[in-house]
Amino acid sequence: MKLNTLRPRRLRLSAPLRVMVRENHVCLNDLIYPIFVVPGTNVKEEIPSMPGCYHLSVDNAVRLAEDIYALGLRAIEVFGLPAYKDEIGSSAWDPQSPVQCAIRAIKKALPDMVIVGDVCLCQYTDHGHCGQVKDHYVDNDATLKLLNKVAVSQAEAGADIVAPSDMMDGRIASIRQALDEEGFINTIIMSYAAKYASGFYGPFRDAADSAPHFGDRRQYQMDPANGREAMKEIDLDLEEGADIIMVKPALSYLDIVYQARQRCQRPIATYNVSGEYAMVKAAARNGWIDEKRIVMEELTSMKRAGADIIITYHAVDVAKWLKNGEVEA
Ligand code: PBG
Repeated sequence: MKLNTLRPRRLRLSAPLRVMVRENHVCLNDLIYPIFVVPGTNVKEEIPSMPGCYHLSVDNAVRLAEDIYALGLRAIEVFGLPAYKDEIGSSAWDPQSPVQCAIRAIKKALPDMVIVGDVCLCQYTDHGHCGQVKDHYVDNDATLKLLNKVAVSQAEAGADIVAPSDMMDGRIASIRQALDEEGFINTIIMSYAAKYASGFYGPFRDAADSAPHFGDRRQYQMDPANGREAMKEIDLDLEEGADIIMVKPALSYLDIVYQARQRCQRPIATYNVSGEYAMVKAAARNGWIDEKRIVMEELTSMKRAGADIIITYHAVDVAKWLKNGEVEA
């Protein structure tokens, strides 16, 4: 009998060999760390369903930004809880709101930090929807005008990237035009192009106090059952001028990341969302999983699917683990 001489195991014999032939790596350059900024000073309160993540006042947000910069992270996404809410979410473009203040302060302290602003209204409206509501319906085109103001106010504050997460139709073209008219021709738009109506946002909505008070978001966010529709959304956003497109959530949607990679030449981001983070933390706390191993495996799988950029609450832990040599990239 002829022996089989094809032996893929040869390349797995030792750690240096395995690393030499490794196809995908998690690198700090690829990670964006999301933070939650609140009014006041000297506030640092842990978010119960997101252990290790905090509500931070602007002063503490700057301190955290400096700490993570020292760890080697270079990108931060700023979410905020405003001091007031109203029907149209006007605190979302108030230059004195926590997000705008945090963007200004972090940019001043760390000019090299890439700052991403989340462009949405759900944290700022008294009904919790991502747009202006008329007769229980989120009015698409009226909302675009408000989103333009949010994007411009964040660019004015110093955001390098604005990231619309509302899922209104036509928002990328609308925001691009508004930014250009105000002279922000180099402000990057990272579009949450394929954002699904997902149960995995639960902890975030507690953290950001942004759950809708009536109905849900299924009239604007995508149906989790649909893949082809995601390609349509991505094509439209690229046509409208998105610089980076995003798939969100990450783990249950890696097929969408993969398809997007085959289709488009621009950078692709994926958002490893709050529910995904909370599940890992909860299981790790119970000793049911090896947190470091699971997190690296998850992030590596996002890279393997084709993501260039990963937005993740695990970023700070990963930076520490890599620095201490506790995990391999
Ligand atoms: C705002 C927004 C949400 C998330 C990011 N931006 C929540 C939502 O759409 O309800 C979720 C992030 C996470 O779960 O980590 N529209």
